[in-house]
Amino acid sequence: MTYQVQVRAALPALRKKDHLRILAMETSCDETAAAVVEDGRVILSNEVFSQIDMHALFGGVVPEIASRAHVEKVTPVLDAALQKAGMALEEVDALAVTYGPGLVGALLAGVSYMKGLAFVTGKPLIPVHHIEGHICANYLTSPELEPPFLCLVVSGGHSHILSVEDYGVYRLLGCTQDDAAGEAFDKAARVLDLPYPGGPRLDRLAEEGDPAALPLPHPHTAGKYDFSFSGLKTAFLNAVHHQQQVHEQMKPADLAASFRQAVVDMLCEKTMLALSDTGAKKLALAGGVSANSLLRRQMQALCDERGVPLYKPALPLCGDNGAMIGSAAYFRLMRGETASLSLNARPSLSLFR
Ligand code: KG4
Ligand code: ZN
Repeated sequence: MTYQVQVRAALPALRKKDHLRILAMETSCDETAAAVVEDGRVILSNEVFSQIDMHALFGGVVPEIASRAHVEKVTPVLDAALQKAGMALEEVDALAVTYGPGLVGALLAGVSYMKGLAFVTGKPLIPVHHIEGHICANYLTSPELEPPFLCLVVSGGHSHILSVEDYGVYRLLGCTQDDAAGEAFDKAARVLDLPYPGGPRLDRLAEEGDPAALPLPHPHTAGKYDFSFSGLKTAFLNAVHHQQQVHEQMKPADLAASFRQAVVDMLCEKTMLALSDTGAKKLALAGGVSANSLLRRQMQALCDERGVPLYKPALPLCGDNGAMIGSAAYFRLMRGETASLSLNARPSLSLFR
């Protein structure tokens, strides 16, 4: 029997099982991550090998170093995930892997590996969209959450306001016209000489600063729910450079707090607009930047005022991890979405049909 025929024959019985355990792999950027997730909502294990130290020297992710590190770490990380879950490979029901978007060489490391594993075990392989994984991190933190809800996705490469209409059904309302929010945080952090990855460090520094110290522009966007961060970033850069030239630099904490406030104000303003226009009953945050402490506080206060429940991934689930891929994979498997062994990496994969 070919792999594809075998998987198709096994699916109906698999989907009727009381519990489904999925072994998931994530290698789209600079984290080699594997996890075992039960029924899309329960984490049995979640192992992450972060390559941050390898890239910090270069001030950003070096694609070739990332690919090579994934190739090296994929087996030990996957072994650790199985071991922590107390399971043997034969005991998992299905396999899952991020196949896009991301760095092509990094994605290929995970995709090739998991295809090999699918071939030898005969288990279904579920292809997962990285951003869908970030959204599904909310199902792990808040197992009671169900669509429909509005979601603000803010990561290193994406900034979207989208409506999660059902499992796997997404409608884009707005997105960034230039930089992603995480990218903007990283660039501003670099101007402040903070080491890579700058976003979390800028966030920490900003806690001690005055957010009103440096007035920054409020960028205009054509789309009602769109973002633009590049003007903000340039204004910040110019202000810091000017201060350096005249030897009158503000405290780095004040600069960090002012920049963070401007980004968070823009994210909150557009999200609240989309919330009231759509009449959505719930809001969720997703992606690396959802770990930002001001974004979490400010969005919580705004949602409390409106009586709208806010869902935030637990801090360890905001950044890239395997558990979020295992969650997204469960809902895909329930819809019968499995990959063939010709699955390829898709660096620019879209979430929208
Ligand atoms: O989702 P993620 O881990 O990777 C991508 O899919 O891109 O997001 C990484 C981004 C980086 O730009 C990082 O600086 C940013 O999220 N980030 C933060 C914080 N934690 C991570 N930005 C601001 N404040 C944070 N606390
Ligand atoms: Zn990510």
